[in-house]
Amino acid sequence: MCGIVGAVGQRPVMEILLEGLRRLEYRGYDSAGVALWNGEQLQRLRRAGKVQALSDAAAEQPLAGGLGIAHTRWATHGKPTEGNAHPHMSGERLAVVHNGIIENFEPLKAQLQAEGYPFSSDTDTEVIAHLLARELARQPQHDLVAAVAAVTGQLEGAFALGVISADQPDQLVAARKGSPLVIGVGLGGENFIASDQLALLQVTDRFMFLAEGDIARLTCDAIQVWNAAGEPVEHPVVQYEHGTSAADKGTFKHYMLKEIYEQPEVVKATLAGRTSNGRLLEQAFGAEAGAIFDQVRQVQIVACGTSYHAGLIAKYWLEELVGIPCMVEVASEFRYRKVVLPQGTLLLTISQSGETADTLAALREVKERVLASLAICNVPGSSLVRESDLSLMTNAGPEIGVASTKAFTTQLVALLLTTLALGRRHGLAEADEQRIVTDLQQLPQLLQQALELDPAIRQMAQAFAEKQHALFLGRGTLYPVAMEGALKLKEISYIHAESYPAGELKHGPLALVDKEMPVVTVAPRNDMLDKLKANLQEVRARGGELFVFAGCAQEVKPESGVQVLEVPQVSSELEPILYTLPLQLLSYHVAVLKGTDVDQPRNLAKSVTVE
Ligand code: AGP
Repeated sequence: MCGIVGAVGQRPVMEILLEGLRRLEYRGYDSAGVALWNGEQLQRLRRAGKVQALSDAAAEQPLAGGLGIAHTRWATHGKPTEGNAHPHMSGERLAVVHNGIIENFEPLKAQLQAEGYPFSSDTDTEVIAHLLARELARQPQHDLVAAVAAVTGQLEGAFALGVISADQPDQLVAARKGSPLVIGVGLGGENFIASDQLALLQVTDRFMFLAEGDIARLTCDAIQVWNAAGEPVEHPVVQYEHGTSAADKGTFKHYMLKEIYEQPEVVKATLAGRTSNGRLLEQAFGAEAGAIFDQVRQVQIVACGTSYHAGLIAKYWLEELVGIPCMVEVASEFRYRKVVLPQGTLLLTISQSGETADTLAALREVKERVLASLAICNVPGSSLVRESDLSLMTNAGPEIGVASTKAFTTQLVALLLTTLALGRRHGLAEADEQRIVTDLQQLPQLLQQALELDPAIRQMAQAFAEKQHALFLGRGTLYPVAMEGALKLKEISYIHAESYPAGELKHGPLALVDKEMPVVTVAPRNDMLDKLKANLQEVRARGGELFVFAGCAQEVKPESGVQVLEVPQVSSELEPILYTLPLQLLSYHVAVLKGTDVDQPRNLAKSVTVE
């Protein structure tokens, strides 16, 4: 939520800042702004709307300078107007960009107003600008780092900050607590900050990750970092791993479509180096994992959104293949509940970004009360990974589309590997492990075949374009797949979609079914198929139109009111992974037909770093 970019360099940085914002737009896109030191004064330009509006304004009103901060916003406090857009300033000499939420901004604002500081926005961020100005006025030496340290000590909540001052125009000061911020180490004569490495791949592939509570001073030639206790610290400089083209759209019309099509490749990357001779390589989880897995008596999964759906599928696998109890809960509930965590609980968090505020808070809340914490995550240096005892990366590469696609399927692969690792320590037969590993090796090829359904799914999507509602049904591990299908459809096409375990239909939702309610079903050829077919009859009998992704068209026959597309045969464990693809494509094509903003759907942001 919200994207920050900052630069200090010996060359003009305006274009770098704008390009950085474009690459961060997935984090929020309701307004954007920039502040630059031009050698004489701080200049600010802000616009409501997308980064393009800011770019257009900058073309008419060029800003130049080697020190600047920029921001793309996802509104929390105050409407998405130009006046609420960042950077916020106190007077003419200090500018701030902020990602996060300041929970105690109201009393701070009241105090500052009483002291005569004028407020021009409804944001929580503006208090930071005035607090800094007040602090600088109190300090004879005008030290920006000292002022940021004093002010951040007064803030409750989460923040990543970039600050520049006309009184110290050789430096950019950054701070983080609870929101992500990375330093881009320039190749000479320049340094950068950003919410995400992707923003800075245009200028560097070397990064330094700030820890919770760190404050950093960047000049053209140096980076200094202090920890929360005010002590100087040194963090390693890490090379970006994915290659700099990973974040490009290529020839695809949308990031989402590109990411759907990348799934065979990224599933392969998630498996790479983690199996050998049909067995899982337990070292993938870290040297101490085996000893921990031995002691696990129960698994508690915590995640949000799509990652939560991945967790629901893992519950079926863990209970069936490992035979240990597994609880799954959304992080926003889990973190505020008095949870009972029996001895031997492994806390398993799942997150694409590794920065989701609720998931991180859940980890921090119970970390000391569990046997160990394991993060399944797509971003190696993320807070979730750094704060967990063990981690397994999903290797999906950057996911830019707000709707999660390849992150989900690679999470499922990582969760199945986790199931095997635990199973090995808890009685899963070696033959079963070998069978599943062999099936996983075939998966990329099957995913490729499933993508060949794309033209037929595009046709099918036409039936949804004029609809207001849709129902998604599944049974067993395919029920969370139906949940994920419904989430995809609603988030990018704005069609109201609900998901149910098919067996629940007659307990209420059947009342909704008529010819205006398309019913989407995932129906592999498995033990539950006959029961599912009976549920589908209930829908047909009420005039509901069925769209079935089936393992065998012989079993679910197409007829008037029943469209069937055949999905390649796959082993039961891998069904939820394979059957996800057609649902992703269906949502994508419906959204394209409806003309929505597929990669940046309204009201949403990719990384939910506020609660
Ligand atoms: C799904 O398409 C969304 N992007 C959303 O539900 C997402 O999965 C959720 O916000 C969790 O994000 P995370 O995986 O980065 O923690």
